[in-house]
Amino acid sequence: MATVLVASNRGPVSYALGEDGSLDTRRGGGGLVSALSAIDAREGLWVCAALGEGDREAVRRGVAEQGVRMLDIDPSVYADAYNGIANSVLWFLHHHLYDIPREPVFDAGFRRRWESYRTYNRAFAEALAAEAAEGAAVLVQDYHLALVPGQLRELRPDLRIAHFTHTPWASPPYLGMLPTDIREELLRGMLGADRLGFHTRAWAEAFEEGAGDLGRTTVAAYPLGVDGEELRALAYRPEVDEKLARLRTEIGDRKTIVRVDRTELSKNILRGLLAYRELLTTHPEWRNRVVHLASAYPSRQDLESYRSYTTAVTDLAEEINTEFGTPDWQPVLVSVKDDFTRSLAAYRLADVALVNPVRDGMNLVAKEIPVVSETGCALVLSREAGAYEELHEDALVVNPFDVSETAEALHRALTMPPSERTDRTKRLAATATAHPPQRWFLNQLEALRER
Ligand code: G6P
Repeated sequence: MATVLVASNRGPVSYALGEDGSLDTRRGGGGLVSALSAIDAREGLWVCAALGEGDREAVRRGVAEQGVRMLDIDPSVYADAYNGIANSVLWFLHHHLYDIPREPVFDAGFRRRWESYRTYNRAFAEALAAEAAEGAAVLVQDYHLALVPGQLRELRPDLRIAHFTHTPWASPPYLGMLPTDIREELLRGMLGADRLGFHTRAWAEAFEEGAGDLGRTTVAAYPLGVDGEELRALAYRPEVDEKLARLRTEIGDRKTIVRVDRTELSKNILRGLLAYRELLTTHPEWRNRVVHLASAYPSRQDLESYRSYTTAVTDLAEEINTEFGTPDWQPVLVSVKDDFTRSLAAYRLADVALVNPVRDGMNLVAKEIPVVSETGCALVLSREAGAYEELHEDALVVNPFDVSETAEALHRALTMPPSERTDRTKRLAATATAHPPQRWFLNQLEALRER
């Protein structure tokens, strides 16, 4: 039986099913994966969902990594819970993304999907209840699993349960859009935990405001940071050197503005491109002297809104290239590919980092680039990113909706004196590495054990 359990929708491994029936194991990265290496493999268990056919086949064949249990949830229940509720309703509410004249619509179809969300959460609660030792600590992650704490509390009152939200938390007017019974079910689900964690005080306060007098659970902020040593080791591998050399040939001695995101509606990639276009218009001296390197990892492509957003990003980049490009200068280099090696090479090259989400739980890219950039970089940062709370003093802060302000911030960033840039980057990197994932995780575990 496990004494420390983590539950999340996406687990640390996934399986791809080959045409010949073979299973190819893929290991994921990210903060949680490195956080969990702090736990002795014999006491820990990570419960996650089987996400695709490869994962489901692995569960059927009994293929499993030590310390990982994948749940094979009925595919239509899973699709309704993950795409229909978690990513289309909860994600949109927490990030204030709705196109209000049309959405949200809470009708009979929504209620059916909510039923699937409940069933999917229950599958996690039951697996955790079955695997946890007496008095074990269970750390549930994110908006996919908001009902798990309450459901698990009923099954196993002896457990210590924490829930951590990696997104922002919807402000009361957004949370208030949910039908009253569903909103209360969501809040009571979360409040089944002994402790609730968020990346910033602002999100924790939004939760407390929305919950009103429903519960007395302890709510705290645990800002996640990056492991500087691990990240630098990754960024200076030979394969990154190779990519870097290729990018350098393309870019020449021009300056670089770097951004790395999932193709995610909340990341505000379109307004970032508009700001870059405005920079090239209002400050024509930058033409042929700067390149915008954008990495966009395809994300949630089952959802139409994400697919059309991805197309809109590549279309706008192309427009800018057609408008300003010359035979030897391509103003925007976009890569729509999950290519972390290229991103690390871009991080090393960055003169300017652009992180301008309309709303974001934390945003680790804002913390990673200053740690890795070779010459120091100026950070243009949205005031709506969770990272703003820790990094605002050394960043050039922008309102993510104000394209002109963002364009001016890019200009200021590009012209920042080298000594100022170096000093700011040093302070940004120190703050970014103050709460590395292992420490972040252990702090929460200790607090949970003390309760
Ligand atoms: C955000 C969420 C994570 C999620 C990630 C990728 O960071 O907080 O829980 O895993 O996005 O999204 P995906 O839908 O691909 O898991």
